Amino acid sequence: MIIAVDGPTASGKGTISKRLAKHFTLPFLDTGLLYRAVGWTLRDQGGNADDPADALAACIFDGTLLDNPGLRSETVGGLASRVSIHPEVRRALDKRQRDFAYQPGGAVLDGRDIGTVIAPDADVKLFVTASSEARAVRRFEEMKRRGEPANFDDILADILKRDERDKNRSTAPLKPAQDADLLDTTDLTIDAAVQQAIALVNARISGRHDKDPA
Ligand code: DC
Repeated sequence: MIIAVDGPTASGKGTISKRLAKHFTLPFLDTGLLYRAVGWTLRDQGGNADDPADALAACIFDGTLLDNPGLRSETVGGLASRVSIHPEVRRALDKRQRDFAYQPGGAVLDGRDIGTVIAPDADVKLFVTASSEARAVRRFEEMKRRGEPANFDDILADILKRDERDKNRSTAPLKPAQDADLLDTTDLTIDAAVQQAIALVNARISGRHDKDPA
């Protein structure tokens, strides 16, 4: 079974995906980490994130980089969003994601274009959203917990900028697949969101999903 989980930054999709993978005993790939690794490598190489050739050169990185907690920083997230607009970069990361998705037994992948581009025939597609304010609060609290300096207005502005770029790029923009189930986590605790996600997956795989609720 392939479960595709897409959505904007800080929507809760990462935690939901991990918990789905555990619940359904499936391997999990956070595809954002691949773009973050490109952003990190590009910075190391002194490249320009807006230059497609520099960004493509940064697609060659050692797999161990994916375990580096530094990839989670806001700066690297911003670089990841910038390099991800280049079709060359998306192509370079494509096979790795497809191979993971289509491994025997299936997988859970989270990202922006999993249900639309990487695994368009996934068994289940979830599109996880939350208001930009709720996402900024979560990001703010997460940064505080990590002891990083955090300013709410800057975080909100950054989230809005990142959404704008992810949604409006010409290749593989962030958008729900036509047959995706939407999950708005704005007013949900993470446990409630996970329970709803599990229920949506079960409904899809048991064929009970009502595509046109009255
Ligand atoms: O999910 P994340 O915040 O770690 O992703 C960082 C950036 O990577 C995001 O702003 C856009 C890009 N990305 C993408 O374009 N496609 C994906 N499947 C995953 C991430």
